[in-house]
Amino acid sequence: MIEEFLSSKATKTETALSEYLARRTEIPQTLRAAMEYSLFAGGKRLRPALALGAAELISGNDGDALPAACALEMIHTYSLIHDDLPSMDNDDLRRGKPTSHKVYGEAIAILAGDALLTLAFETAADCGDAAVMREIANAAGAEGMVGGQVIDLESENLKLGVPQLRNLHAKKTGALIRVAVRVGAMAASANSEQLDALTRYGESIGLAFQIADDILDVVGDQNAIGKPVGSDASNNKSTYPAAVGLDGARKLADDAVADAVTALELFGPEADTFRALARYIIERDR
Ligand code: IPE
Ligand code: IPE
Ligand code: MG
Ligand code: MG
Ligand code: MG
Repeated sequence: MIEEFLSSKATKTETALSEYLARRTEIPQTLRAAMEYSLFAGGKRLRPALALGAAELISGNDGDALPAACALEMIHTYSLIHDDLPSMDNDDLRRGKPTSHKVYGEAIAILAGDALLTLAFETAADCGDAAVMREIANAAGAEGMVGGQVIDLESENLKLGVPQLRNLHAKKTGALIRVAVRVGAMAASANSEQLDALTRYGESIGLAFQIADDILDVVGDQNAIGKPVGSDASNNKSTYPAAVGLDGARKLADDAVADAVTALELFGPEADTFRALARYIIERDR
């Protein structure tokens, strides 16, 4: 059930992403190649699926959330290109392929990231909703993902406790996941009670998602995750397994999924896909 949901939302997102890029005819060839290389490398499309799924949950229709969904995937892809740079995590493999800077060099990788970030806002503008754009900007920026990446880098070689790790994960990964759910709900005109519930759901699965990512960095299979195993240990990153061990991390991820499911109490069976998605997020092998 969850595989079908994710693959149908991924197909819808990828079709729209191709159209958004095709519409921009003045992109220099190398830059377009680098943007497409990373954007169409086979990501899970979780953030767009959350935006589209939230809209569908509220109104039965996901069409109005599509520009925001595509914008979020562009921002997420840019964040991965920059995250892999030698000055950051220095990784050579992403989405099962050599990283952008390995193929195109650092300068083009940086610029492809910049171009995806800016194209994201051009794309999000199709929502015609300044509040949606403001939320996406905040989640992606200094108070959200970018801020989290700074804390991540500054926490290398330190031993963070669980409260500090929660804050790190809420910013570097949680913010984009939380906003994906929110903008989907907003596009479908959710009421404030629905929006609050979905916001708590997004925050909980965001935490669960990054804990699972930390665990996969230790015990994952490189062919499945499409990125190097052991990157965090080699960079001395502050992660949940480093702080509380693998079993402790699994327990905290389980707790976060339970919180996510509790947040959905307001909804009936129409939210079963989101309930299953919360479990998938920690049971996934990629
Ligand atoms: C990886 O995100 C980076 C994190 C925020 C943990 P995903 O696991 O969603 O990566 P893709 O999009 O499927 O490649
Ligand atoms: C990065 O977290 C999250 C981003 C904002 C890109 P990680 O550094 O753990 O992500 P991966 O494991 O490289 O995908
Ligand atoms: Mg990183
Ligand atoms: Mg990384
Ligand atoms: Mg990781």
